Amino acid sequence: MEFIPYGKQWISEDDIEAVVETMRSDYLTTGPKVQAFEKSIAEYCGAQYAVAVSSGTAALHLASLALLEEGDKVLTTPNSFLATSNALLYAKAQPIFVDIAPEGNIDLDLCEEALKKDPTIKAIYPVAFSGRMLDQERLAYLREKYAVKILEDCAHAIGAEAEGIKAASCVNSDCSILSFHPVKHMTTGEGGAVTTNDPDLYRQIMLLRNHGMFKSSKMKPWEYEMHTLGFNYRITDMQCALGLSQLKKLDRFIRRRVALAKNYDTAFSDTVAKPLYLYDGRSSYHLYVVRVDFEQTKISKEELFVAARERGIGLQLHYIPINKQPYYRSLGYGEEPTPVMDRYYRESFSLPIYPKLTDDQQRYVIETILDLLDG
Ligand SMILES: Cc1ncc(COP(=O)(O)O)c(C=O)c1O
Repeated sequence: MEFIPYGKQWISEDDIEAVVETMRSDYLTTGPKVQAFEKSIAEYCGAQYAVAVSSGTAALHLASLALLEEGDKVLTTPNSFLATSNALLYAKAQPIFVDIAPEGNIDLDLCEEALKKDPTIKAIYPVAFSGRMLDQERLAYLREKYAVKILEDCAHAIGAEAEGIKAASCVNSDCSILSFHPVKHMTTGEGGAVTTNDPDLYRQIMLLRNHGMFKSSKMKPWEYEMHTLGFNYRITDMQCALGLSQLKKLDRFIRRRVALAKNYDTAFSDTVAKPLYLYDGRSSYHLYVVRVDFEQTKISKEELFVAARERGIGLQLHYIPINKQPYYRSLGYGEEPTPVMDRYYRESFSLPIYPKLTDDQQRYVIETILDLLDG
């Protein structure tokens, strides 16, 4: 049987044709596919603007530069990919790591405690972890009451919806970011986007994406002005052609992810492998995480990973607490009181979930994991 990783893309002939057609066109970058992709992403998420960039990390970087000032204190989660808090460091802001709630997202009650204690905190960077929507009512309340800026990292959550609000629609945040890395719901190879409803933020991020260069119809044809120190974080037309083609299939991909999640929910009920949360309509399931109390099993977590790999299954761990990474420790982080995250880290791992995973493959994953945990 072919190896089953925790996530992978689904590329079909129509995707390949879309890319090839663009390669034969006049524009390989900064062309019509980029604009069309941005329009479609904004429409899909229900935000006014989208800026497509070369990665989710680039999206985080530019949004942070546009949103924050040097030295700003920002609440964020240890349960994310490194990029979320790294972006704060790029912008010379100061991450403050807050513990998570049991379902994996940042604990917004603890965020409120931190905001009460320290009114100089300027922003919150929550992550819609695994694809599960953040509590929008709480975000709205914190944003209003404490006048904090909010960036929602929706790299896991495109297509998720709760209380009639879509992920990355920025109803209760200043901006959101998306990632189109191949393990995500849809891919452009590498790629990402910032979504926002704020025209000033949009203009700033557009400027920062392309060296801070400004042009207008009032200028002479050859003129351009540099208004800020920007970057080359442009995405290509080939990538956006792939993105547009994938976007057509996104809802189908998500329906399959949800169906797989529901199968896992059923299969693991009353077993030692406890789903991080059961399906409740709030997640688009980039990840499916289970928790095991390894003190009650004969096999250790490390042994489980090795044994699963030997049987052709790639488990993954999302995530090692960012604040405990050697680099963050070198900056003085790592000893924050995060008991929920610490326990989560000991117990959790991610199972394969991607639209191309067949029912047979999923049954094999379930049987193998339960067998290994039982043995
Ligand atoms: C939560 C989160 N934020 C940001 C990123 C960065 O996205 P990219 O890999 O497209 O740079 C990732 C990527 O895995 C992620 O999982």
